[in-house]
Amino acid sequence: MKKKNSTCKGIILAGGSGTRLYPSTLVTSKQLLPVYDKPMIYYPLSVLIQAGIREILIISSPHDLPRIEELFGDGNHLGLKLSYAPQPAPNGIAEAFIIGEKFINGDPVALILGDNLFTGPHLQALVQKAAETTSGATVFGYEVQDPSRYGVIAFDENGRPKEIIEKPKNPPSRYAVTGLYFFDHNVVNIAKTLKPSSRGELEITDVNRVYLQNSKLNVTIIDRGYAWLDTGTADALHKASAYVQTLQERQGIQIGCIEEEAYKMGFINEDQLLQLAERYSSNSYGHYLSNLAPGKVLTKS
Ligand code: G1P
Repeated sequence: MKKKNSTCKGIILAGGSGTRLYPSTLVTSKQLLPVYDKPMIYYPLSVLIQAGIREILIISSPHDLPRIEELFGDGNHLGLKLSYAPQPAPNGIAEAFIIGEKFINGDPVALILGDNLFTGPHLQALVQKAAETTSGATVFGYEVQDPSRYGVIAFDENGRPKEIIEKPKNPPSRYAVTGLYFFDHNVVNIAKTLKPSSRGELEITDVNRVYLQNSKLNVTIIDRGYAWLDTGTADALHKASAYVQTLQERQGIQIGCIEEEAYKMGFINEDQLLQLAERYSSNSYGHYLSNLAPGKVLTKS
């Protein structure tokens, strides 16, 4: 499914010091660690591409940002316009909108966390719909066993969102708010009104609460047919890798393949795809990419 490009902009927040993954993240960004066969940050980037978003700001720590920039450059090879901004201290997810104010420039904006992995049958349709909404906010609820680790959303008897709480000790529901958010242009001003929470962060949950109080928060449930995976600990990372490997091998499809999604969205053409494939011509990733462009032959460089 290909659709027109969205006017919505995108932010990937690849923040955090990754201490739960030490020593793996002592010198490198968590978001650059592999989830099976590709860097973690490919997965959230592929979601923004599926949403039709081409203008993307990547925010990370001053230490990690240069490596991420080295990986993606200006994004032109993917038909994207990428830019980069540092978050000097881990002051919270909502600070991304203050850092990105100029980039957002009054447009709607999607924010995805650099360590969130989503996959599912109608993900593209869901995110494209959210990216087309120019008023209010859209967040995604996902039923989990351990909601107190997340932002949690509770619903009234009519299924409307009632309250949203960050890491509640006694969760009012099992619906976690995932790390993918779509906002209208008001988000920047809302972020500027926030005060740091008890953990010293500008909380995304506080932004969402403002939208909720204004009856402008749309909650889309992503059900059991989807996967929303955590990659924050060595165990979770290993399980996410195994999940990706299992599905990819079983179905012969890729999850989080930015080149494929850019091609399917028409951001790049067949020739550009094949050029990208050539870089990986010695492995199965390259073969997968070249097979997406039927009738074309991969020329050895
Ligand atoms: C953050 C948000 C939380 C959200 C989660 C999704 O948690 O604060 O509301 O549910 O991301 O991954 P953190 O990663 O800061 O613990």
